Amino acid sequence: MSKEISRRTFIKGAAAAGVVLAAGSYFTWNGRNIPEKVQQGNVTYDVLIIGSGGAGMRAALAAAEDKNLKVAVMTKLIPTRSASTMAQGGMNGVTGVTDPADSVESHVFDTVKGGDYLSDQDAVEYFAERAGANIYEMDYMGYPYNRQADGSFHQRKMGGSSHARAAYFEDRAGHAMVHTLFEQCLAHDIDFISECQMLEISMGGEDRKQLNGVIAMDMRTGNIMGIPAKTVLIATGGYGRAYWIRTSNPYSSTGDGIVAGMKVGIPFKDPEMVQFHPTGLAANGVLLSESSRAEGALLINKDGERFMKKYAPERMELATRDIVARGIATEIEEGRGIGEGIHAGVYLDFTKIPPERIRERLGQVYDLARRFAGVDITKEPVLISPTCHYSMGGLEMADFHTGESRVPGIYVAGECSCVSIHGANRLGANSLSEVLVFGHTAGDGAAAYAREHAYAGSQQDLQAGCQKWLNHFDEVTHRAHLGNYTVPELRDAMVNTMWFKVGVFRDEQHLQEAARELEALEQAYQSVYVGDTSHVYNTAFEQYVELGNLLQVSHAIVQGAIARKESRGGHSRRDYPQRNDKDFLKHTLIFKDENGWRTEYKDVVITKYPPKERKY
Ligand code: FUM
Repeated sequence: MSKEISRRTFIKGAAAAGVVLAAGSYFTWNGRNIPEKVQQGNVTYDVLIIGSGGAGMRAALAAAEDKNLKVAVMTKLIPTRSASTMAQGGMNGVTGVTDPADSVESHVFDTVKGGDYLSDQDAVEYFAERAGANIYEMDYMGYPYNRQADGSFHQRKMGGSSHARAAYFEDRAGHAMVHTLFEQCLAHDIDFISECQMLEISMGGEDRKQLNGVIAMDMRTGNIMGIPAKTVLIATGGYGRAYWIRTSNPYSSTGDGIVAGMKVGIPFKDPEMVQFHPTGLAANGVLLSESSRAEGALLINKDGERFMKKYAPERMELATRDIVARGIATEIEEGRGIGEGIHAGVYLDFTKIPPERIRERLGQVYDLARRFAGVDITKEPVLISPTCHYSMGGLEMADFHTGESRVPGIYVAGECSCVSIHGANRLGANSLSEVLVFGHTAGDGAAAYAREHAYAGSQQDLQAGCQKWLNHFDEVTHRAHLGNYTVPELRDAMVNTMWFKVGVFRDEQHLQEAARELEALEQAYQSVYVGDTSHVYNTAFEQYVELGNLLQVSHAIVQGAIARKESRGGHSRRDYPQRNDKDFLKHTLIFKDENGWRTEYKDVVITKYPPKERKY
């Protein structure tokens, strides 16, 4: 019998009531998605955060501690619809509450080993030292944790972790986090600028190093605005939609912030490190949380074999994601899967888990399998296979003590950033903790910068940027359809290239083919047909912009993957199956500027743990 008691009904009710009340005040706020002062150009933000996921909202709370600062969160969605909301399993942090033997040192080592030694170990230490405190902090904010009989939160052991250190709310950890943070943001009078798509970060001055603010489109009206800001904090999440065919990410994960950051000189660090989560529904890639395996679900091939014993004899289903994903892909490739083509999979079998535990801790997984695969997991196994889930790479965070990028005044946090703590493979439940730790850090960092600097941007530059985008909007949306690709056609071609040539397994031939195909698609993008001239909710134009971003992100992934002639973590090359520390214990930095694309490298920071072979 589980030690857990269900305070859920009470807590869920209270949380829901809080959200309804708080969100009610937001959504009825003059019926506006954008504060009037922004529309009228009457405000210069001290800290303008792009992205309303866990990192963005945690950063906003940190910055808003200083009541003298004007802080806003801008999102192309509405604030509670970010990708963080879809995170399922939990947030890692050492508290010793469920497992007194856990330690910060163990969290550091698990993270470094899980990342196949590409993590910067000083940054991992900073992270692990703070992650436990964040779990308590969320508790004080009202996070509705699953709890033990004594009222303390419960923690579970996710893949690659040596101890039970992921605190959680059922398998809806991210949903509860986003709503908890949103309530706090409302209580702290943080401005929200919703349904507003960032088009670019505006830089001015002679050397283009002076931050003006952001150019953005109000999706409701098509109005293109310049928003002045002393600092911009990019927290726009990942780019899983580059692998649209099979991804756990929402439609909005299109790498917008990464591309905006690259355009102003921030390198894209380790872009080739893409995480394929082992257990997406075979039917469509929808995520079934790793917490399924944490709670006892088994992976079984068509012969009824628990095949992970071949790939990770000790940890089995709870080895790291890169290893489990490759195990599943190998079983399918070698004919021990079930089904054909892209929908082939292996079984994820929950039938040994008591149904009441599934209800208590895996309610969403139960619903997802039922709705999206028609399977009742309490009665029969469900077919799964790897799905694109997470980007370990992202915009380089130049200083993890402040969250600042190498461009003064621009800060980064969350999945769009690369600190780098995840290295070549992220551990389950390290992402939500990362957004809390580094969201907080970057919010503090941006606030400090804003206090120390006057706004030195130019409203004229912002206006010029708006005019440039208005002209572009007109040109693009009025283009004739002369047999050129439409946006969805081009997108489909791109994601086919990415999934089949830059997926779980890679090699030189397919990567080179992908590079050539992407080059042709980038060319075709210049005349792509958009076909909607309206200004109100022109989602065709929005998708055109997003596709442009995905193409750039894909280019960087392929460029990094071709150059990295080794296998490490999520980057698995059949033609270079071994890790090669001699030549590749280094970070990839991809730049794109007016002279085109270029690659540089940066050393990995090793403190206590020299690289050694990983065994699970
Ligand atoms: O499988 C999951 O629940 C995902 C968690 C994560 O990406 O951290």
